[in-house]
Amino acid sequence: MKDILNELEGRRSAARLGGGQKRIDSQHGRGKLTARERVELLLDAGSFEEFDMFVTHRCTEFGMENQKPAGDGVVTGWGTINGRMVYVFSQDFTVLGGSVSETHAKKICKIMDMAVENGAPVIGINDSGGARIQEGVDSLAGYGEVFQRNIQASGVVPQISVIMGPCAGGAVYSPAMTDFIFMVKDSSYMFVTGPDVVKTVTNEHVTAEELGGAGTHTKKSSVADAAFENDVEALAEVRRLVDFLPLNNRAKPPKRPFFDDPARIETSLDTLVPDNPNQPYDMKELILKIADEGDFYEIQEDFAKNIISGFIRLEGQTVGVVANQPMVLAGVLDIDSARKAARFVRFCDCFDIPILTMVDVPGFLPGTSQEYGGVIKHGAKLLFAYGEATVPKVTVITRKAYGGAYVVMASKHLRADFNYAWPTAEVAVMGAKGATEIIHRADLDDPKKIAQHTKDYEDRFANPFVASERGFIDEVIMPHSTRKRVARAFASLRNKQTQMPWKKHDNIPL
Ligand code: HXC
Repeated sequence: MKDILNELEGRRSAARLGGGQKRIDSQHGRGKLTARERVELLLDAGSFEEFDMFVTHRCTEFGMENQKPAGDGVVTGWGTINGRMVYVFSQDFTVLGGSVSETHAKKICKIMDMAVENGAPVIGINDSGGARIQEGVDSLAGYGEVFQRNIQASGVVPQISVIMGPCAGGAVYSPAMTDFIFMVKDSSYMFVTGPDVVKTVTNEHVTAEELGGAGTHTKKSSVADAAFENDVEALAEVRRLVDFLPLNNRAKPPKRPFFDDPARIETSLDTLVPDNPNQPYDMKELILKIADEGDFYEIQEDFAKNIISGFIRLEGQTVGVVANQPMVLAGVLDIDSARKAARFVRFCDCFDIPILTMVDVPGFLPGTSQEYGGVIKHGAKLLFAYGEATVPKVTVITRKAYGGAYVVMASKHLRADFNYAWPTAEVAVMGAKGATEIIHRADLDDPKKIAQHTKDYEDRFANPFVASERGFIDEVIMPHSTRKRVARAFASLRNKQTQMPWKKHDNIPL
């Protein structure tokens, strides 16, 4: 018996050593943690239960039968984050470069299947040289099986990808189909084709970092949702994110203890909106002042900054926030901001997270680049996402809500439950100047008359009252009481039930 126990311990130690001390040192030398160290940091201390530690590949090509590392380059299992269950896989770059074999993929598929069956998120830590070259098509089949599971799990359990090394070629498509992608600055990259191929095909000279590093994907492509300084920070932030999310699409988001009066008055909000309607102000200030303990978890902070998205809590319960940001491009909607917000709204709706929308939007960005880029379809994504979302929706218009953008931003017409406006709100078909120039075209040569017409238009329409008279605004509220009003609104919606007509699925404009 003792011999067997010793053998087990010996096998375990060998498996834990992955590709050996030299490769572990090399991993550390690049500022990267090992697959197991990452799992330890991600999960609550001592909570990790491993599967398939002794799985090996079955390849016999290229002498692979003589090289059969236990675990086959990926550590898989489950554990807890602040006591709540998650499944995890962590690719081990020290074992054959973390490359994906048939059996490596099977290990990932096993925990994905269990995650869906048992209703818990999947967190994938990616650090891999891609398809195991010695295995060829078996490896591709393995990827395909993972992709299919990503699709099936989408909208059932939250899926989070953390890119902590190479992730290239078709391998990028598994993270691409997950809900959130985090990257580590300077040590991770994602691209479909690498710098060498790019040079050959397009004659462009780029480094891996420029082509697919964390900066590129958080600022330019929007493939990634956040970038962090190192592995430790990235994993700590995954823990923080998981704390906002439900375990699956049948569970409610977690309710956390809160130490912040839901009726807290914020008198400073009464002067947040400047007297001059063309002067910007920071919408984040409003979000922070509404949130429990000022805690805001921002998603895609560095992309399309004219719209803000992220999670807060109200009375300890998760709420997704979407807000125009007047500080950037006057808070206008454009292709990037519409795509960013639409995806966020759809995530919230999948996982039963109520949505709070703050509106200060002068309209859609004009221009050929927007029209040629398909702003019509991209803008429609956000419209569609809000209209199909059946979770509780509360909207606060702080200032401008003009034209089509007014309708898009969770208006009453898209079945928002509570539509509040501050007294400074201007709900109108367009700004006074533009409207006057059209209606009073005959007076365009007379600046005095135009100024008077503009003032008349402002007096009549640049306010929340016309929309309130129609019932499109439920109530005009005092800015200082916004937290209280919004928290009460969501509290009243906790048992909301709405159904859309039966359909296989919708056809959102992609
Ligand atoms: C097998 C691999 C491997 C792979 C790396 N290794 N990638 N083994 N299959 N794909 C092994 C190396 O042989 C080496 O083994 C160890 O991992 C570390 O690799 P290094 O090259 O020493 O590391 P580094 O210098 O950091 O370079 C990392 C790398 C490079 C950039 C990822 O290894 C690389 O270019 N690998 C090949 C990438 C690739 O072409 N993959 C297939 C793409 S096609 P030893 O024993 O020396 O430690 C693809 C299709 C997916 O992925 C399609 C899905 C549908």
